[in-house]
Amino acid sequence: MTAIITIANQKGGVGKTTTAINLSAALAQRGKKTLLIDLDPQANSTIAFFDSSEISQTMFEVLSDAHTELAGVIKPTRDPMLYVGPGRLALAKLEQVLAGHFDAPYKLKDALAPVLRDYDYVVLDTPPSLGILTVNAMVASTHLLVPIQAAYFAIEGTDDLLETYERIRARPNPALKVLGVVITMFDRRTNISRDTHGQIKTVFGEVLFKTRIGKNVRLEESPAYKETILTFAPKSPGAIEYKKLAAEVIQRVEEDRVTRRAEDAA
Ligand SMILES: Nc1ncnc2c1ncn2[C@@H]1O[C@H](COP(=O)(O)OP(=O)(O)O)[C@@H](O)[C@H]1O
Ligand SMILES: [Mg+2]
Repeated sequence: MTAIITIANQKGGVGKTTTAINLSAALAQRGKKTLLIDLDPQANSTIAFFDSSEISQTMFEVLSDAHTELAGVIKPTRDPMLYVGPGRLALAKLEQVLAGHFDAPYKLKDALAPVLRDYDYVVLDTPPSLGILTVNAMVASTHLLVPIQAAYFAIEGTDDLLETYERIRARPNPALKVLGVVITMFDRRTNISRDTHGQIKTVFGEVLFKTRIGKNVRLEESPAYKETILTFAPKSPGAIEYKKLAAEVIQRVEEDRVTRRAEDAA
């Protein structure tokens, strides 16, 4: 069973895209065949791998046109275990394009179905909103991973995200689970980081991943070179932390598989 992980937080600039890119690369490096899908109109995950001239069809066509198959849109990367479903600005129009489609929230789930057997992991990067793109991601997913920036007001807004999560679990996708919360841009020298870590821990408890992603300038630089942190600066703290996060993700996904099997058998 393929693990499909939505990376979501309706705040911008909290490390969703950085986590989507580098977690995907780290999963691939651990031998998991991984598909990273970019659902953000800003297409930062896409630009981190490809020049715009290399992109023709994108997730916009897949989600808006029934004749465009996802398999034909997916692009290989330099890592043979890592593939990308590219995004582009047109995704911002999707809300309008799908208005009136009764199956609007299911477009991604339907598009993914024929390719799932080819991948161990699918990672979905989402825009900073809880609109149709993020809803499509959560309807299609087995898991939700929430990056939270170690900054004041970090937790503000997460209740809206969790409310959306509960609504999606209530009807379209009862199988969706919270995989975890990861603290990003942590700076051990600042009180802000320590305070917010404490606060996030109190609110999220066990769900919080043990791995924290520290503030690391290498993580900011690598997309400009069309590299992930694993090839750009393999010994940097950012690379080490994303590899640790991938190990925790794999462990939680595998534990969850056992739980789901036991639930199915009961
Ligand atoms: N751990 C980190 N250390 C330093 N800079 C980071 C880190 N994570 C993200 N950034 C930078 O912060 C900005 C926002 O991150 P991004 O991943 O694009 O967030 P989002 O996708 O949630 O909007 C980007 O410029 C990114 O390079
Ligand atoms: Mg982003």
